[in-house]
Amino acid sequence: MRVFVTGATGFVGSAVVHELLDAGHQVLGMARSDASAEALAATGAQVHRGSLEDLDSLRRGVDEADGVIHTAFIHDFTQFEKSCEVERVALGAIGDALAGSNRPLLVTSGTGLLAPGRLATEDDANESSFPRVVSEKTTEALAARGINASVLRLPPTVHGKGDHGFVPILIKLAREKGVSAYVGNGDNRWPAVHRLDAARLYRLALEKAAGGVRYHAVAEQGVSFRAIATVIGKHLDVPVVSQSPEEAAEHFGWFAHFTQIDNHTSSAKTRAQLGWEPQQVTLLDDLEQGHYFTA
Ligand SMILES: NC(=O)c1ccc[n+]([C@@H]2O[C@H](COP(=O)([O-])OP(=O)(O)OC[C@H]3O[C@@H](n4cnc5c(N)ncnc54)[C@H](OP(=O)(O)O)[C@@H]3O)[C@@H](O)[C@H]2O)c1
Repeated sequence: MRVFVTGATGFVGSAVVHELLDAGHQVLGMARSDASAEALAATGAQVHRGSLEDLDSLRRGVDEADGVIHTAFIHDFTQFEKSCEVERVALGAIGDALAGSNRPLLVTSGTGLLAPGRLATEDDANESSFPRVVSEKTTEALAARGINASVLRLPPTVHGKGDHGFVPILIKLAREKGVSAYVGNGDNRWPAVHRLDAARLYRLALEKAAGGVRYHAVAEQGVSFRAIATVIGKHLDVPVVSQSPEEAAEHFGWFAHFTQIDNHTSSAKTRAQLGWEPQQVTLLDDLEQGHYFTA
């Protein structure tokens, strides 16, 4: 299969590119800069110059492909709603270009906004009012139009070498403040997946090419926040402390909300549908390896 991958140079997308190439697929990867194009070409993927804002470039990418994996996102949190709107319009253009064919589209979403306080499953629609829900809602609208579009939900913690997501934020804060904190008893849970296991799931889902499905790239249903804070404290040699929500607001700043998310999430249905079994290290074992703390 020839696969058009947006975000092909990102933490997740670059793993997807390798996974596809290793499995014998061809990749047409989107790159918006010379540096990204160079990095992508070195992997053996074909470079497609363009961007999420350049709808013609998206249409051309789709026209040259047998399927599409969308992982690009503008991670500029100073204009988050604008980034979500760019994604909505970009997905609409990709969907229009796929219309009338049965070529699959797999869109990245997240588990983080699902069913707080109980086990979330693939049957749970994303009813959040958070702007990022747009990726999932737009994909559902495309599927309702008969386009072969499905959603792949990532946990808030996709881990592995090169991670620049939630866990590095916690490590940076613990370094700066001299304590590794959790809120209350720290029993709230974050699901997790290694980026290489997530990449394999993208490939399996694309090869299955079933439309209107929600996949959960969840290797661990829920790792307690206290356990994450404890490993961080151990590796930085700083105290691990429980904080009240008020203290946490001060300690974590804009990130405080995320530290209290309880996002227990199942992937049982995904595993049964695709025969996906995670093979990489767990989040805590990945942290224990030490590479998160070398910077
Ligand atoms: N990493 C996680 O822990 C995690 C967890 C949950 C959900 N997610 C979601 O998973 C997806 C991939 O995340 P990631 O961690 O791989 O992100 P990332 O490392 O920041 O990569 C983002 C990718 O999007 C591309 N991009 C950014 N703005 C673009 C634009 N205007 N036009 C075209 N391409 C653009 C980047 O290209 P350049 O190389 O040119 O910058 C890069 O390839 C995102 O939707 C993210 O929100 C990630």
